[in-house]
Amino acid sequence: METLREFESDLTIDKKFGKLKITLYENKLVLDDGKNRVEYNLKNISNVKLNEGFGINSIVADYEGKKIEILYFTNRVKEKLAELYEILASVTSGNYLKMNKIESKKNQNVVRWLLSLISPYKFRVSMGILFSLLLVILSLIPPYLLKIFINNVLLTKGNSYLFTEIILVLIAVYSSVVVITVLQNYALNYLGQKLSNELRVRIYEHVNKLSLGFIENFQSGRILSRITTDVGNTQWFLIWGIPTLLTNLVTIIGIGVIVFFMNPFLGIFAILPIPAIIIGTTIYRRKSRLKYHKVWRRSADITSLLTDTIPSSLIVRSYANEDYENSRLRRLTEELFSSQMGVIRLNVSWWPTLGFILSLTTVIIWFVGGKEVISGTLALGTLVAFITYLSMFYQPIQNLTNVIPFMQQSFTSAERILEIIDSEPEIKESDNPKKIDLKGEITFDHVWFGYDPLAPVVKDVNLKIRQGEKVGIVGQSGSGKTTMIKLLLRFYDPLAGKILVDGYDLKDLDIKNYRSQIGIVHADPTLLYGTVAYNIAYGKQNASPEEIIAAAMMSKAHDFIINLPLAYDTHLGERGNRLSSGQKQMIAIARALIKEPKLLIMDEPTANVDSITEGEIIKSLKEAMQGKTTIIISHRFSILNYVDRIIVMDNGKIVEEGKREELLQKKGKFYEIFKGDGNGTREIYKETQYS
Ligand SMILES: Nc1ncnc2c1ncn2[C@@H]1O[C@H](COP(=O)(O)OP(=O)(O)OP(=O)(O)O)[C@@H](O)[C@H]1O
Ligand SMILES: [Mg+2]
Repeated sequence: METLREFESDLTIDKKFGKLKITLYENKLVLDDGKNRVEYNLKNISNVKLNEGFGINSIVADYEGKKIEILYFTNRVKEKLAELYEILASVTSGNYLKMNKIESKKNQNVVRWLLSLISPYKFRVSMGILFSLLLVILSLIPPYLLKIFINNVLLTKGNSYLFTEIILVLIAVYSSVVVITVLQNYALNYLGQKLSNELRVRIYEHVNKLSLGFIENFQSGRILSRITTDVGNTQWFLIWGIPTLLTNLVTIIGIGVIVFFMNPFLGIFAILPIPAIIIGTTIYRRKSRLKYHKVWRRSADITSLLTDTIPSSLIVRSYANEDYENSRLRRLTEELFSSQMGVIRLNVSWWPTLGFILSLTTVIIWFVGGKEVISGTLALGTLVAFITYLSMFYQPIQNLTNVIPFMQQSFTSAERILEIIDSEPEIKESDNPKKIDLKGEITFDHVWFGYDPLAPVVKDVNLKIRQGEKVGIVGQSGSGKTTMIKLLLRFYDPLAGKILVDGYDLKDLDIKNYRSQIGIVHADPTLLYGTVAYNIAYGKQNASPEEIIAAAMMSKAHDFIINLPLAYDTHLGERGNRLSSGQKQMIAIARALIKEPKLLIMDEPTANVDSITEGEIIKSLKEAMQGKTTIIISHRFSILNYVDRIIVMDNGKIVEEGKREELLQKKGKFYEIFKGDGNGTREIYKETQYS
């Protein structure tokens, strides 16, 4: 089982000073202080808490229904172990349950699934295997010819007929080997590429179907590694695994039979080192796997340090942490070095040892066989052929010992891919999804929701938005505004209650059809790699240049776009990094408006835009969204004048609603939010010019 994290405490299980090793696995926590060892099943841990004392702290939890203290530590290691606490707390709450649900869903049979993958290519697979076997048989011929050549041609100094025949057969054998190798490689590699492409696309398509919750829980890194590494392993398994297994087996059996058939006495010497090879290789594999795993983890650490800090070098430099990061990298590379040396030490000792054992066997055969040749009981050609066969004999045994565990690993990879493909989207479309012409009437009916079912963040929300109404949502950070939007877009389903759109339960609608009619501007809009035009047109496939420009004019993006070096054809770089935050927001608004949505949802759309531009954007929104429903989350007081009604959220609930001035006079939550910034109350007197 893979170790997730390791920690160390300075207090043992029975609260004495000493070392306690703490290892976190995917489903259990193991504590070991050398004397005692305790194991906790993560599934049974809940309600994890950190108890902070003056000198001694502890992590406590409910375990199998009882309250227990899991471990103790002094302030010296508090920072590290607080991290363990956080991991434990999140892993044992809803997130873990969700992941577990996904992981336990291995209901398809892996073997059957693998076979179903190659079944369209039955013919090619059988040809690949057939060619591989032919190659084995062909490779067994030349040493035998050598025997005849020495015994019956060279030593008898005659038989010119046999002489030419052997030469011709040899030419025929080697030519066929070339042709068949080409065919075999072509067939199998063709298959390999086809299959891994197919797998990659299938995973990607499936991930696109899965809910956002899955991606947030699963971490995109893990999904990525499945699309790359695991696909590679599975492909290898399907394409090369079976032929490798077969050819090596056939080679071993073939040579074994021939060798015993040629000379049973020498044959016994030949099989002597086999146990040593198998046992040695097995031990080597076990050791090297651990060591290689260590190297792999260390280099993964380095990669994540680099991918984390290079794109964020702005932060690193701002906090003058270059030296800290440099020394961190240096430390990691030193760890990598020492783990690599571990591998090297193992390799430099094992391979020569194995080589020595095999050479020794050959020496024995030379010795025993040589004596027989001298005494005349064995023909010279037979001995030479024998030694040639032996040189081909041990490699496949090593291959097999190496390949079988690797096949297991590939099998695990296949299982991991299947795990994703098998996991069902949490958001399921109904059997008969309705496609509607969206009008824009929305009802939240006693809606409850929480990312962790035990901690709701939207609590019993009732809200009715009329068609064409403009609604503003305000509330403190974390009050659940964005979550409401995610529910309305059906990225998540409510735990209780219902969301109705135009009178239909959201769950009955065709999701893609529904979302395609909504214009969305997310908070912190993400732009994609491409030009300005590409990014705006992302809202509507095949948009004409006129439509793109019209949308950009509405969002006031046009004004700055024409000043860009290549105007609409300017490349924006990764995630639109070449633009200012406000400019990104304007492009995102254009992207939402270009599809002429019936329902426009904007999450802090102008948070980074200056107030003059904001005023202009709102003016054109007013025109564009005439008679259409608009929902705007905003903390900008001026924007709230544009809406017909303001909803005030607090801690997952709607606590107030009404017009801006009414709410201000009420001196409730809304007043509390806006009085502080001085901005709101000031602005109400110098009323904005675009109202
Ligand atoms: N993907 C998530 N997984 C778990 N918890 C989440 C997730 N997204 C948000 N939350 C939590 O849900 C609560 C509501 O978050 P939400 O994003 O809806 O707040 P918000 O009102 O939009 O805040 P802000 O004004 O800062 O954008 C917060 O406590 C937040 O920590
Ligand atoms: Mg938000």
